[in-house]
Amino acid sequence: MTSLQGPTDLLPPAAPLADAVLVAATTLAPQVVAWRRHLHQHPEVAFQEVQTAQFIADTLAVVPGLTVTRPTPTSVVAELRGTLPGPTIAVRADIDALPIQEENDVEYRSTRDGAMHACGHDGHTAIVLGLATLLAAHTAQLPGTVRFIFQHAEELSPGGAEELVQHGVMDGVAQVIGLHLWAPMPVGRIGILAGPAMAAPDNFHCTITGKGGHAAIPHECVDPIAIGAQVVTALQQVVSRTVDPLDPVVLSVTQFIAGTAFNVIPNSAYLAGTVRTFEPALRQSIPAQMERVIRGIAEAFGATVDFHYEHGYRPVVNDRALAERLQAVVARTFDGDTLIDLRPTMGGEDFSAYQQRAPGVFAFVGAGNVGEGIVHPHHHPRFQVDERALDVGLRYLAAATVALLAEH
Ligand code: NI
Repeated sequence: MTSLQGPTDLLPPAAPLADAVLVAATTLAPQVVAWRRHLHQHPEVAFQEVQTAQFIADTLAVVPGLTVTRPTPTSVVAELRGTLPGPTIAVRADIDALPIQEENDVEYRSTRDGAMHACGHDGHTAIVLGLATLLAAHTAQLPGTVRFIFQHAEELSPGGAEELVQHGVMDGVAQVIGLHLWAPMPVGRIGILAGPAMAAPDNFHCTITGKGGHAAIPHECVDPIAIGAQVVTALQQVVSRTVDPLDPVVLSVTQFIAGTAFNVIPNSAYLAGTVRTFEPALRQSIPAQMERVIRGIAEAFGATVDFHYEHGYRPVVNDRALAERLQAVVARTFDGDTLIDLRPTMGGEDFSAYQQRAPGVFAFVGAGNVGEGIVHPHHHPRFQVDERALDVGLRYLAAATVALLAEH
């Protein structure tokens, strides 16, 4: 679909405040990189971000004009009230790391065994620390309030977002924005989807119980491995034969654990995996379809099944009107080739919890660089970001926040 309007026609002309904030953002860039490297060296996994939250609170404590609160032990919220009247805009950064052993050989690599910022949340935190710092220097011209949400536990369901929403962090918020540094996209690019952006990440696990015994006497056993193998294959048929091919769905079996010896048929097999969808009706119908297939196969061969399905985060669905306004902000703030078309991802994000309370847009900020070997996917032991993406992310959030405040 094309529009007769150019994207920048949707916005009033850039205010002097926007220009001043963008200049300040560039000046702040080395500090943002330093914050990110400190966080990268000291990763903490979901619900354990004690020192991370303390570092955020300490950093914000010296910024004049901020009201800093701690809704949960490992999260931080800061509020900046502008002198001029206006709405409340929330900006969210997730702060948690992953249980991964870092394999990068950089001077600021993780100092903690078995923990690593392998998704870029160190960068998100540093960017929003930068945003709070630079907007606090312009309180006198700020029309409205900005709430900075440093959220714990994005990586582990049930996630920190829903918990913070329950603590009231979205009360009075008119709009909410956030971003993800995105390694599959080159640095210098920004992608903003209008509508569905990220899938609902559900998970399942099941135990198939047969009858163990000697591997040489299979006919006196009920072999859960042979049954489980058929279950794995048949589950792919749930996707390919029972779902409308125009509805995206992923069904991956990611764990198949059974057996201890070459000559023993085990008693049981454990299978687990993930299901990703966008459509609410499909999301609701998939568990029963899976269970019917798993149970049917198991019972046909004399085994029993214990099946559990857990709903994870809701899908991230960007408010269309807000997304178009933020696309216009990018077009006005950055070079002409910055804004790129993007396809939704089947990855999940608990940013969706905030979108239940106010129109929200979650943007992707390119952080990859093939020429410099920054090519590894998120959650990889050698995941990296091109740190120039931090400056892009900060300028995007700064321009977006100022534009949204000014529109009211
Ligand atoms: Ni992430």
